[in-house]
Amino acid sequence: MKTKLRLGVIGVGSVVREIYQHLYFRSDFSHLLDVCAAADPNEQFRNWFCDLAGIPAERRFTDYRDMLAKVQLDAVQVNTPDHLHCGPTVDALRAGLDVVVPKPAAATLKDAHAMIRAASDAGRFLGVDFHKREDPRFKEAEARYQGGRYGQFQVGVLYMIDKLQVADPNHAPRFFASPDFAEKNTPVSFLTVHMADALMKVVHLAPVQVRAVGYAQRLPALRPIPVKGYDLVDTEILFENGAVAHIITGWHLPNTAHSLTVQSNRLICSEGMIDLGLDTPGYREIHADGITEVNPLFKNFEKGGTVTGYGISSPGRLYQHILALRNGQLSQHDYEGHMTPIALGFYTTLVLQGAEKSLAEGSSPARGVTLGSTVDLRRLLADELGPSAAKEYGMG
Ligand SMILES: NC(=O)c1ccc[n+]([C@@H]2O[C@H](COP(=O)([O-])OP(=O)(O)OC[C@H]3O[C@@H](n4cnc5c(N)ncnc54)[C@H](O)[C@@H]3O)[C@@H](O)[C@H]2O)c1
Repeated sequence: MKTKLRLGVIGVGSVVREIYQHLYFRSDFSHLLDVCAAADPNEQFRNWFCDLAGIPAERRFTDYRDMLAKVQLDAVQVNTPDHLHCGPTVDALRAGLDVVVPKPAAATLKDAHAMIRAASDAGRFLGVDFHKREDPRFKEAEARYQGGRYGQFQVGVLYMIDKLQVADPNHAPRFFASPDFAEKNTPVSFLTVHMADALMKVVHLAPVQVRAVGYAQRLPALRPIPVKGYDLVDTEILFENGAVAHIITGWHLPNTAHSLTVQSNRLICSEGMIDLGLDTPGYREIHADGITEVNPLFKNFEKGGTVTGYGISSPGRLYQHILALRNGQLSQHDYEGHMTPIALGFYTTLVLQGAEKSLAEGSSPARGVTLGSTVDLRRLLADELGPSAAKEYGMG
């Protein structure tokens, strides 16, 4: 029986620095992982990570294809930018490996579809790390909602708005390494996907229509480096049961905000409602730096150096499933449970591509405002993947 997975890491940028290095080397899941190779064209990041992991020179690669060809692995984690998840994932699955990707599964439906096809053709595991799936508040909401306690989901408002420093290339030190981070990523691709996925985890509904409204007023006015991008986007999602959610995300709150990311959810249902004060988890700090809400539920630095929290247990659980699959201990039922459009993040990518299309087709009723078009997601699916795709993904 296998007790450890030989893991190759593809892409070792910000998300590895902020989250995954703790998973790999200082978590309750570290004993499951033998991080034995890495690939990243960025020499500085590659050497930082490989030095940390004790990976020798012959297992440090600039091209992940060399890593797949030369090193015996069980799994890879693909931490590349969203639009580059697909290539390494498909190649690794075809080579018989299991794969974990950070959210979102992919930037486009075509990419997500290719990844899912490759996993099911190979009978391998594809896991998407949406960490809110392991947030105890969302797990409790799912259990209670699915138990029928609240009736039918009707209308929801979900917020996730970061401090400006997250998107501001003028802020020192930069929050994300690259100066064009907020031009390459939108609040939809970076933030809305978290809330859309978490909501669908609770209500188990397929999205059928999307319309987005975007505001680009604060970021383009930044100096000396302006950002060509949205401050705030309201994505309206219509679900198959007629429920409507507004997911409001952005990254332009004053840096004096009480939390790095200001978040809440209100879900109104036919027989009750759920309020999740996500940014008030019960730890408020009063300090010369200001009054701050701290979230130890996400990352908790424990005595002795271990890091726990749902940011770590979410990907950790995926590796437990991979180990079970490799040991023949994942039942067909459990495997199929991981292959649903919600679990694979497919519906979230559908919302993402739909919202970006909505904004791209939008009109401008006022300066800096984009009123998006209404996008029929079944039609988008058929246009992108062909007429049989809606049925394949449970939307026929
Ligand atoms: N879980 C979260 O909340 C969370 C947070 C941040 C980022 N992310 C996701 O993590 C992923 C990476 O984001 P990031 O912020 O670390 O980006 P980043 O730009 O900081 O790092 C990406 C790394 O991938 C490398 N790379 C690019 N092409 C490559 C290739 N072909 N092969 C190997 N390496 C390659 C780059 O050199 C870079 O080091 C994205 O999908 C992002 O959405 C998730």
